[in-house]
Amino acid sequence: MDLLKVTGGTPLHGSVQISGAKNAALPILFATILSKKKSIIRNAPLLADINTTQKVLDALGLKTLFTLENHQIEVDGSTLTSIEAPYDLVRTMRASVLVLGPLLARTGEAKVSLPGGCAIGARPVDFHLSALEKLGASFKIEGGYIYGIAKNGLKGAIISLPFPSVGATENIVMAAALAEGSSEIQNVACEPEIVDLVRALRTMGAKISGEGTPIIKVTGVPELQGMNHSIAPDRVEAATFLCGALLTKGKVTALGIDQSYMKYPLDVLERIGGKITRTENSITAEYVGELNSVHFTTEPFPGFPTDMQAQFMTLLTSAKGTSTITETIFENRFMHVPELNRLGAKISIKGNQALVDGPTALSGAIVMATDLRASASLVIAGLAAKGETTIRRIYHLDRGYEQLEQKFALLGGNVVREFEK
Ligand code: EPZ
Repeated sequence: MDLLKVTGGTPLHGSVQISGAKNAALPILFATILSKKKSIIRNAPLLADINTTQKVLDALGLKTLFTLENHQIEVDGSTLTSIEAPYDLVRTMRASVLVLGPLLARTGEAKVSLPGGCAIGARPVDFHLSALEKLGASFKIEGGYIYGIAKNGLKGAIISLPFPSVGATENIVMAAALAEGSSEIQNVACEPEIVDLVRALRTMGAKISGEGTPIIKVTGVPELQGMNHSIAPDRVEAATFLCGALLTKGKVTALGIDQSYMKYPLDVLERIGGKITRTENSITAEYVGELNSVHFTTEPFPGFPTDMQAQFMTLLTSAKGTSTITETIFENRFMHVPELNRLGAKISIKGNQALVDGPTALSGAIVMATDLRASASLVIAGLAAKGETTIRRIYHLDRGYEQLEQKFALLGGNVVREFEK
């Protein structure tokens, strides 16, 4: 398996182009199932999860053409021949459950493997199923598969989600777009990736309003045209580089990112002591002196994003005092803590709270990536640590970060990929 060798000690300096957001690209690719026409998606990131999504679409019979050198993906929706998302694909990428809404809307049936648990938590899909049932679908679970049918097609309804689940919001909005009549979906997720999905659906002729607010209204249409959309930038990737800049005492500009996606985390970076400069489509973080401890809790958007928790925790190892981080979205999202402590951090866990004592001088060691965002935090820790850090199991990283080592190299970071013997 591949591993990364990171040599620390050089402040990161320069600008980095932010890629399209993985968590927008995945639902948007699955949304192409809703149309029998050809869809074009641009600014798609080069990621393992995008490849897996292509395999799922291929398994459904859709023709996909990924010209990844220019980050463009074409999907021909006219050739749907299957309604099954197989176990061996779903288990590698739980976002495959997002085929449920589109398949039910287009064909009235779907067979999707239960995603199973994942490193950061059980991650059930009950909110998805109960919301889709309100539109007229019915489900049974057998042999590890979800079998969904909507014999009389989907009918619009008023639906209230028990929690603003990102995936459940995406599944229900995609299904409602082709349902008969109107739907009002309450307590939906407001993440920028939801906004991007709705923008993409609108290029197909979907009639949707309210995205980015807790209530989304959808008027179903009989059919949807092909999509023509460019993926929004990845706020989590941007946060990774901005935290890396401050942790290595450097200055980095993230290019192509909309600062409105990052209001809360940027406020926290300023409270920590980073000098943050915002322009229309870039954000710069500059180290200007001693960093301060802070307290934050992860929450649904517009609160502090759980996907940025590990990166900020890593930054806070170099802040003066004790920071407290409370994780409320996932039940097991502190697996990076023992790995950071191997690098010399002083982090303790009490329930869903991590206490980070600082400043601590990090020094290189062998560590193991445990999940996508945790592995990115180990890279920036290695860049700040004295000596060399080896990061194993970086297949987690490849799922969600495009050419990370090349991007860090452009900023002066020494990150080299090697093959584990
Ligand atoms: C999306 O996951 C993202 N993944 C996650 O990013 C992100 O951390 C998460 O949203 C929260 O922002 C993609 O977009 C592909 P949820 P999702 O439904 O949709 C519970 C990354 O690193 N829940 O908002 O699965 C769930 O267990 C990944 O890119 C139920 O109980 O998140 C969790 O505790 C990690 N039942 C909470 O809700 C359900 O039916 C939030 O989950 C659905 C969710």
